[in-house]
Amino acid sequence: MTPGVRPLIAGNWKMHGLRADGSALARAVAEGAGGGAGAAELLVCPPFTLLREVGAALEGGPVAVGAQDCHAAAKGAHTGDVSAPMLRDAGARFVILGHSERRADHGEGDAAVLAKAEAAIAAGLVPVVCVGESEGERVAGDAEAVVTRQLDGSLPEAFAASGGVVAYEPVWAIGTGRTPTEADIAAMHAAIRARLRARFGEAGGRLRILYGGSVKPANAAPILALENVDGALVGGASLVAADFLAIAAAV
Ligand code: PGA
Repeated sequence: MTPGVRPLIAGNWKMHGLRADGSALARAVAEGAGGGAGAAELLVCPPFTLLREVGAALEGGPVAVGAQDCHAAAKGAHTGDVSAPMLRDAGARFVILGHSERRADHGEGDAAVLAKAEAAIAAGLVPVVCVGESEGERVAGDAEAVVTRQLDGSLPEAFAASGGVVAYEPVWAIGTGRTPTEADIAAMHAAIRARLRARFGEAGGRLRILYGGSVKPANAAPILALENVDGALVGGASLVAADFLAIAAAV
């Protein structure tokens, strides 16, 4: 936790949900969030097809809506893609970018993530930029170098002014039930904080750094209590309202 910074608990629904389940899940999260007086800000990121539906279910409440990716161009001949202004128009306030599943499945490198983050900020969205090492990179002792390189390559100049969020997600911890040790999470978050301060000055000291990768109700409290851990990016557990809310309550 960073003093004076409100933590963010973000749900990444990935490619899950049809209209009926998406609305029900969003409503259950909103009901559980009550008036939003909890310590954490809440965000859910459904697939594109559910943005309007989920936005309608959450309207006027404290839970924000985000998307999971955007194209770097505002419009154009890009069949199958969705632009940042389209997401904003559909009610999104945040967008996850550079998730390791996009980096792996779609070959997105740091330059692509940077361009998308610029587009997101230009459209008035807050970028949630994901970074994280593979298991081989950690075993080789390269985790910090990899994450530093991803940060340097993926974050645009306007990142701090936009209130951008960094999510540290070790690839090997995503969906596996495995997490780094608390000491390893704290060390990586400290390294990310140092890099953000070096690049963005004082503003870099206040940007939120989320941890992601197998966050569950049972392990959330000690992770969220670590210095420089300002919330969580939650995949699987965000699909069960009670689990997502329990993680938020662990802040
Ligand atoms: P997980 O996913 O919580 O299911 O590990 C996290 C993520 O990919 O954002």
